[in-house]
Amino acid sequence: MARILITSAIPYINGIKHLGNLIGSQLPADLYARYMRARGNEVLFLCATDEHGTPAELAAAKAGKPVAEYCAEMWQVQDRLGKGFRLSFDHFGRSSSPQNHKLTQHFAGKLAEAGLIREVSEKQVYSNADGRFLPDRYIEGTCPNCGYDKARGDQCENCTKQLDPTDLINPRSAISGSTDLEVRETKHLYLRQSAMRDRLREWIDSKTDWPVLTTSIARKWLDDGDGLQDRGITRDLDWGIPVKKGDQDWPGMEGKVFYVWFDAPIEYIACAAEWVDAGKGDDWERWWRTDKGAEDVAYVQFMGKDNVPFHTLSFPSTILGSGEPWKLVDYIKSFNYLNYDGGQFSTSQGRGVFMDQALEILPPDYWRWWLLSHAPETSDSEFTWEAFQQDVNKDLADVLGNFVSRITKFCRSKFGEVVPEGGTYGPQETALIAELQQRLDRYQAHMDAIEVRKAAAELRAIWVAGNEYLQAAGPWTVFKEDPDRAAAITRFALNLIPFYAGLSAPFIPDAAATMAGAMGVEPTWPDSAEAALHALPGGHPFTVPDVLFAKIADEDREEWAARFSGVRT
Ligand code: MF3
Ligand code: ZN
Repeated sequence: MARILITSAIPYINGIKHLGNLIGSQLPADLYARYMRARGNEVLFLCATDEHGTPAELAAAKAGKPVAEYCAEMWQVQDRLGKGFRLSFDHFGRSSSPQNHKLTQHFAGKLAEAGLIREVSEKQVYSNADGRFLPDRYIEGTCPNCGYDKARGDQCENCTKQLDPTDLINPRSAISGSTDLEVRETKHLYLRQSAMRDRLREWIDSKTDWPVLTTSIARKWLDDGDGLQDRGITRDLDWGIPVKKGDQDWPGMEGKVFYVWFDAPIEYIACAAEWVDAGKGDDWERWWRTDKGAEDVAYVQFMGKDNVPFHTLSFPSTILGSGEPWKLVDYIKSFNYLNYDGGQFSTSQGRGVFMDQALEILPPDYWRWWLLSHAPETSDSEFTWEAFQQDVNKDLADVLGNFVSRITKFCRSKFGEVVPEGGTYGPQETALIAELQQRLDRYQAHMDAIEVRKAAAELRAIWVAGNEYLQAAGPWTVFKEDPDRAAAITRFALNLIPFYAGLSAPFIPDAAATMAGAMGVEPTWPDSAEAALHALPGGHPFTVPDVLFAKIADEDREEWAARFSGVRT
């Protein structure tokens, strides 16, 4: 049994996430966590809300609420929606937690002791029209790297380059659009990431098994002359973690808070402490400190590609620079973007389908299956209502759902609601067991490698194989001449249901529970196809389950496509 620490990039607090966000980290992380638990490993799966920074402040102001209250409410909403999608976090924390305050200040103190923090008297953009300093992401302009004209002061979302506002060409206030900007003097802390370049490069170079998407982004910024500039880690905001050195005040930093991207990844660690303080675990350092047992933890992070620089360069700089034995990530699984119907999902423009809306129209398994089986791994992928309808109807309703319904109903009508006795498995069953064993091996290999689409394709093939077997074996015709043979076929096919339930549970946990429940068992991971297909003996009772997946009708598809074609207000 291995110990596996899994984190998903922590979603920003301001607003409900769309399906592109969901498939970009939380959902594949959940798939992996469920799989690893099913294989008998000890898993700690953590996520949280990312609560600091200007967007949270502005969203609270817009909602007419104090920011702490706004965040507490939005945490509830995201927590509820996460449960709605069956995200199986061991803890869903908050980056504003006292645990994170303490740890973030601790790391800043250690980095200062190590000489990795510089105090810089800095010129900051002040907007006369808005009467305030403009945080980085509230300055827009043209990206010096790729020419995109809506790049933000912290990062260009087109080419993912991390930016400073002064890098932007033709800067303007994103709040008012004003170009009446001036530069004023103020003091800030900088993390000397540049001093970490060699250690980071050595570390990245050692990760030969990482996805190309991850290492190519990391290398791009390591090789690029200013990809690893020292980064400002403080801001002039009210809401955030006050700048301190451990528990000591930091002279000259009064009234300032840490930059959200400094404290957010530290929440991965603080979240484990929250998990313990919530009474759900008893030792978090065992997961995070290599001097306290974490040396044999495998740590896997999930995130969208825009998050990769922060997880391959910035956060490791914090960890390595602290000089303390914190656990470093072992594997980073990153994703491209999911697009929506010919354009981008966009939170700011309210474009696409959001998590609350998705659950209003269909249960979570429909979304989980479609999104995971189309995970944007090797390139961006696209959600269209036509593809969604077609794939869900085919894979879930016609193949899996139909198989379960057909064989349970047939058995009920001919043998009653018990697994029939009599007859023996013959060449058809032996052949299918061999095929399923091969497919099971491949499926596990893809899941172990976190190849989400390949895993989904193999699982689909496993479902199809059962369907084709049933069609070819045709117990309904055989029954007339040879009821014993029909009993053996039926017994075999019924045994496929718990086999499917176990294998499908990471993708579609509700349907898996229904399938296993109908057969009177828990979804469990099969040891082998051979053993699994002999598991339910003759005489074992079952019930015919309700329809697992209803088909999406054309009228539904048209209605939803129209309802979600515009902009959410
Ligand atoms: N909130 C960020 C986003 O949604 C992700 C933060 S991940 C962490 O893009 F590393 F900061 F935790
Ligand atoms: Zn750019």
